[in-house]
Order: sequence, then structure tokens, then C-alpha cells
Amino acid sequence: MTTHVDLDSLKKAAALEAVEFVRDGMIVGLGTGSTAKHMIAALGEKVRAGMRLRGVPTSHETAALAAAAGIALIDADNRWEIDVAIDGADQVDPGLNLIKGGGGALLKEKIVAASAKQFIVVVDYTKQVAVLGGSFPLPIEIIPFGWGSTVREIETLTKGRAVLREKQGAPFRTEAGNLIVDVHIARIPSPNDLEIALNRIPGVVETGLFVGRTSTLIVGSPHGVDIHHAPEQ
Ligand code: A5P
Repeated sequence: MTTHVDLDSLKKAAALEAVEFVRDGMIVGLGTGSTAKHMIAALGEKVRAGMRLRGVPTSHETAALAAAAGIALIDADNRWEIDVAIDGADQVDPGLNLIKGGGGALLKEKIVAASAKQFIVVVDYTKQVAVLGGSFPLPIEIIPFGWGSTVREIETLTKGRAVLREKQGAPFRTEAGNLIVDVHIARIPSPNDLEIALNRIPGVVETGLFVGRTSTLIVGSPHGVDIHHAPEQ
């Protein structure tokens, strides 16, 4: 017998827990995706209840959702002092390293996560893996110029198969005007080494590997919500 698990309600439960880390007056990095959507709605309720917040959105989609929820947004060109960023992920390993970028917003997401004092990651339990890779390809944002050569370098380095992401029959373009390749890699046992090596390839703008950035992981599962804190650095 198979039991149906409503993953969206697990994402929502975890997102509701995440917004409890937000305090009055904070600047909040707002992630992108179906989990972040629940977080934005919950923050909107806090704003309506009188909490003063300002948000830094990681995509146009998130900016529109946040504005509709009544969250004041900070100009993208500001030098931010982000107190906490909250975002989803596509995979998370036991060291709280991530694969992100399934939605194509990885570049802004990584800039915002890097600018935040605290980075809270919210997932449903199916995103937890023993080792990154395998079931989810690694998204890598690359410059359109010479993209085929960049892909060849990526494939040689990773020994993986890179697929140019498409949308409606045309190459998918990120908000920065770049391309995304989804690289199928069987196992990523050393995400830190791979991130460094990929970022040395000319044409690579950023990878979906988020290594050592997670402060807190919040996981929604059928038996409840679990909170994991990264060890102090
Ligand atoms: C967006 O580019 C991604 O990094 C998302 O944060 C990630 O794909 C998680 O998305 P869901 O919350 O929709 O699963």
C-alpha cells in the first residue's frame, strides 16, 4: 500500500517554522521557489499584524509575490545589511551543503545568502540525501559567449553530462541574461572542491553548489518539523 504524502504541506510547515526566526525591524533575504512562496505569504501575515520588515528578493517572481503580500522591498543596488535569508533547496547533504537552482535563480540566491548574517534553508524531507548529485542535476549558470566550449570544460571536469536548460523550445535565460546547464553527476562527495574547480572555468558565472553557507536547516517531514543548526564556525 502506498501512502500519499502532501509535500507542499510539509514545505509549508517548515516555512512557517522558518519565519519564527524573523524579528521586528529585520531585513530579510527572500528566496525563490515553491517553498519560499509559503515563507513569503507567512511574512506577509506578520507585516499585516504590525511587524516592520524589509525584503531583498532573489527573483522578479519573488519580488512580485512579496509586494503583493505587503512586504516593503529594498532596492537591488543597495549595499544590504541582511539579517536573515530564507530559501528552499533542491538537495541537502548531512553537512548542510546544498544544490540549488532548479528554478534558475541561483545567482541572486547565492549573492543574497552570502550577504546574510544567517541563512535558513527550508525543505521537505525528500530533499535530504547522503551525497549530493545523482537524482538531481547540478545547475550551473554560464555566459552565452562560447557556451559550447564552457560546457565541454564542465563535462571534462565533472565527468558528467551537461544539458542546456530550455524553456518553451528556446534556451532558458536567467534574469542576468545568462544560460543554465544542468549537469548530471553521479556523486558529489567533495562539493567544496568541485565548487572551486567549476568557478575557475572561464564562462562559468556561478554554480548551484552552496557549500558551508547554511546556518539552519528546517525540514518538513510526515512526523513533524526538524531543525538542524550548523556547528559554529
Ligand atoms: C530556485 O532557483 C531554487 O534554488 C529553489 O530554491 C529550489 O529549486 C527549491 O525550490 P522548491 O522550493 O520549489 O522545491
